[in-house]
This record gives sequence, structure tokens and C-alpha cells, in this order.
Amino acid sequence: MDISVVGAGYVGLIQAAGLAKLGNKVLCIDIDKEKVAKINNKQPPIYEKGLKELLGRIVPKNLTATTSLREAVLSTQVTFICVGTPSKKIGEILLHQLEGVCREIGVILKNKDKHLIVIKSTIVPGTIEKTVIPILESASNKKFGRDFGVVMNPEFLKEGSALEDFFKPDRIVIGSSDKRSINTLRSIYKDIKCPILETSFREAEMIKYAANAFLATKISFINEIGNICKKLGIDTNVVAKGIGMDKRISPHFLRPGIGFGGSCFPKDVAALVHKATSHGYNPRLLRSVLDINKDQPLKLLELLEEKIKKNQKIAILGLTFKADTDDIRESPSISIIKELLLEQAKLFIYDPIAISKVKQLFPHLNYAKTAQEAVDEADIILVLTEWPEFTKLNYKNKLVIDGKNIFNEKKPKNYEGICW
Ligand code: UGA
Repeated sequence: MDISVVGAGYVGLIQAAGLAKLGNKVLCIDIDKEKVAKINNKQPPIYEKGLKELLGRIVPKNLTATTSLREAVLSTQVTFICVGTPSKKIGEILLHQLEGVCREIGVILKNKDKHLIVIKSTIVPGTIEKTVIPILESASNKKFGRDFGVVMNPEFLKEGSALEDFFKPDRIVIGSSDKRSINTLRSIYKDIKCPILETSFREAEMIKYAANAFLATKISFINEIGNICKKLGIDTNVVAKGIGMDKRISPHFLRPGIGFGGSCFPKDVAALVHKATSHGYNPRLLRSVLDINKDQPLKLLELLEEKIKKNQKIAILGLTFKADTDDIRESPSISIIKELLLEQAKLFIYDPIAISKVKQLFPHLNYAKTAQEAVDEADIILVLTEWPEFTKLNYKNKLVIDGKNIFNEKKPKNYEGICW
């Protein structure tokens, strides 16, 4: 099938590459000319495992990029919208990018019938019915269901394993009130073997938020148990293993540490809290999930404060919100650096792939070329992401404070874990 994908960020580019690998002809659209040029040169503008190799195989035969939305919509039958829905400080999501793209597509649809629009952007319940369809109808002068279709198809990809998640998802959710739209999307995903759940628009929009809110809740739960365990001298990882053996609980997303970051959990839970509050419901559990998470990096700093002596230097290993990505959005590591800079700490910083991004935030810090160099320069080492290379360093009896439980049995001699 001929498919266009609007937005070449994490979600859009993985969607486009995945659909191309399934044999479709895919056109990826982005307003950023540099990104478009990179994709057409088989260079991923983001770091994601396996993406470079995949682009090497599918560009230009099955995937090309362009800045022209008109050309893309007119030459395809289906358009996936994967633009960002950033949030304001209070949690409310901003829809200007989605609205703009819908308006443009609506105008293009004046000259085209039977197009399917699939929304992958994360949007609060009600957005398709209150915003997406009305904009498309008024800009095109056409009718949803008769002249064009719309589907809400939330994404559940994890950065670092996004391609694997695309081809082997636990489920695909297809939300729409239009059977023809649902069937078209079913045929696009026909080679992906997993259960498909058909829902209404609002249910599909809510499933995305509820899934992320639940996973975030599991993390804040185990971190709260972890904070109690630390006070009682108990290893939370053993406790997590013990409760995770119960099928009703499951072992996943029970890793304690410095809290969740990234572009999704903090933003999506805050957006759900905002949405609930604006409808007169106070979501106390979700507020606590965010509160616990905000404080979790401070637990590591409390440990550091107990141990550090005057003028001691600190190594920071890992800057991203987790390993296998160069994404520093909402990274606990960045909040830890900010706190330490307020205390005028002397820092030596290392990350395998994100240093150039962090340099833009903090141009004047000491960046080490290797993890070992950062360790050698410092007196105390903070391990803040779970890159395997950090388990193989020579820590030379220096104090290691581990925020991610990376060492298993082979812990450094002088070692302190955040919740264990
Ligand atoms: C998350 C969800 O897992 C995806 O299903 C979803 O599609 C995505 O958000 C999204 O909404 O786009 P992602 O943010 O890429 O994916 O990363 P996760 O692997 O879920 O990790 C999120 C954060 O939680 C990281 O900071 C990670 O270190 C932390 N985490 C995760 C823990 O602290 N403990 C755990 O047990 C698991």
C-alpha cells in the first residue's frame, strides 16, 4: 500500500521504517529539511537500535522523505499522523502541531476521496471527536465516514527496542466508529502476529494514557517500597523478584532506581492528572506517582551527602533517561547534575552517546572521553544509566553509588545502592 507518515520523530520514523519493511511504499514528511536529507541519505536523525541498518536496506526503494505534505497525501491512500503533543508546565497537552497538520490535510482532501487518517500522536480522550474530525471536515468540506476515514491507533514502542516492539507488539489497538477505516488498518498490520483490539476513539485514546500511567505507577510503587527497604536494610531487588513471581503482579517494570524519565511517562501522567482535574476529579494516586518520582533522584543525593567529604570530585556515568538511547528528555541524570551544580560540586561527566546533547545545556562542564577517565578523575562515582560498559570499569575502591542496580553479584568493593 502507499502510505504517508507525518512527523519523523521517534514514533513517526519507526512507524515509517516498520511499514516500509512490511513491503509498503512509504513517504515520510517532516518540516525539518535536515532530517529529511538525513533520512534520504540512509542516516537516522535519532539513535535507535537497528534503525541505521534498516534504513540502509529500505531507502529509497520502500522509504523516502519529503517536506511536501501535499505531494505525500495526494500520492498515498493512508496518512499516519505522528507529530508531537508537548505539554505545558501544568500538564495540559498542546495540540497546535496536530491541528495544523489536520487543517493542511483537510485542504488537500478537497481534491481527494477515500483517504484514511491514522492518529498515532498521544492525545487526551475526546480529541479525535472534538478536534481532529471537525478540523478535517471543515477544511475539506467533506464528511468523515463517507469521504474519508479516521482511526486512533496508539503506539506502545519503547525507545531502545522500538523496532522490535513494532514487529512484535503485545497488541494493536484500533479505535474508530468507521468499520471501513478499521478494516484498512487491519490489512496494513496483517503480517504482524498479535491480538487486535477494536475500540471507540475515546477508549483507544484512554488506553494509551492508562497503559503509561499503570507502568509509571508500578515504578513509583517499587521505588516507594525501595525507599522503605533501604531504611530497613533490605534489598528491594530481591523483594521485587519475590512479588514479580506472582502472575497477577508480573516481574516487568519493577526495577527500583532513580525514577522514570523520558518523553512519555512524566508527560502522559501529568496530562491525565490535568484532564481528570479539569473534569472535577482529583486523581490522588496519579499525583502520588508523580510526587514519588520527582523525589526519587533526591534519594541518591541524600546518600551522596551522607558519604561525601569536602572537595571530593564526582563522576557522573550516564546522562540519558535510560540506556540504549541518546534521549535526555526528563532524564533524572540531568536533574541530579542541576542539583549538584547548585552545590558547586566538581563534576566529571561521561555518556557513550549523549554528550553532544548535554553540552548544549551545560557547555562548561568537564566531559570525559571514556567512562574510565571519568572514574579516574573523581573520588565518588554516580551510576545513572544502565549501560553494560559501566559494570566493567576499574573503580579502584572509590565509592560507587548505583542508581540503576547494574552490577548484580559483582559489585565494586566500596558500593552503595539507592534502594538496596
Ligand atoms: C514508554 C512505554 O514503556 C512505552 O510502552 C510507550 O509507548 C512509550 O513510553 C511512549 O509513550 O511513547 P519509554 O519512555 O521509551 O517507553 O521507556 P521505558 O522503557 O518505558 O522507560 C521509561 C522510564 O522508566 C525510564 O527512565 C526507565 O529507566 C524507567 N524504568 C523502567 C524504571 O525506573 N524501572 C522499571 O522497572 C522500568
